[in-house]
Amino acid sequence: MNIIFLGPPGAGKGTQAQRLIARLGIPQLSTGDVLRKAVAAGTELGKQAKALMEAGKLVPDEVVNGIVDGAIDGPAFANGFLLDGYPRTVPQAEALDAMLKKRGKRIDHVIDLEVPTEVIVDRISGRRTCPKCSAGYHVTSQPPKVADTCDKCGTSPLSVRADDAPDRVRQRMVEYSSKTALLTGYYKAQGVVRTIDGVGSMEEIEQRISKAIGR
Ligand code: AP5
Repeated sequence: MNIIFLGPPGAGKGTQAQRLIARLGIPQLSTGDVLRKAVAAGTELGKQAKALMEAGKLVPDEVVNGIVDGAIDGPAFANGFLLDGYPRTVPQAEALDAMLKKRGKRIDHVIDLEVPTEVIVDRISGRRTCPKCSAGYHVTSQPPKVADTCDKCGTSPLSVRADDAPDRVRQRMVEYSSKTALLTGYYKAQGVVRTIDGVGSMEEIEQRISKAIGR
């Protein structure tokens, strides 16, 4: 099963993606995580992306298309995958369609998480991330077992993402509304959109997604 997660910044895409891939046994590809790792490692890709990401702007289409095109041929992707944060523009969606067609694949479900702005602000302001393994937390709704320490790899302290500062979040919302929100219509035309109410507990939202995709 090939799945895309759409939704505004902080909608819970990464959180729900982790739950779904554990259940379905398929890999997740988060372009945001790939780019953040590249920035931390100081690679050529990271140098290209750093300033744009920190300003809350999108990285050029050809850069992210290259990341996905390189990844989906891996053996782990043979029996399905979940794309989190990609595509984000209509040209990226068209490029993805071409990549999949060439390989005889298609998208089965686009999960479109709907979350109002006031909930997004709360989720993003409380988000903490492990700087080493990228595991995600929230100070109240998903705290680590030991304060400020990653449950998975023990790293402390957890960090606040550079692009989670209020002015950057506003810019990310502008990018989302002007470029990414158009993708709902793009994929509705393909008959694959499953709109999910993204407000509620993580378990409730997981159940809604499970029902929508029949797995
Ligand atoms: P990316 O990393 O993709 O960021 P995003 O889309 O802005 O999404 P987030 O990671 O902020 O949020 P999320 O929806 O995953 O929410 P989460 O599960 O963490 O992209 C970052 C940047 O990289 C972009 O701005 C751009 O520069 C670049 N980039 C990436 N992909 C690109 C592309 N394709 N093209 C161009 N540029 C690209 O949840 C948020 C918080 O809420 C967490 O703390 C979580 O614990 C909590 N939470 C989640 N669900 C619930 C719930 N039900 N109840 C309570 N709390 C909850």
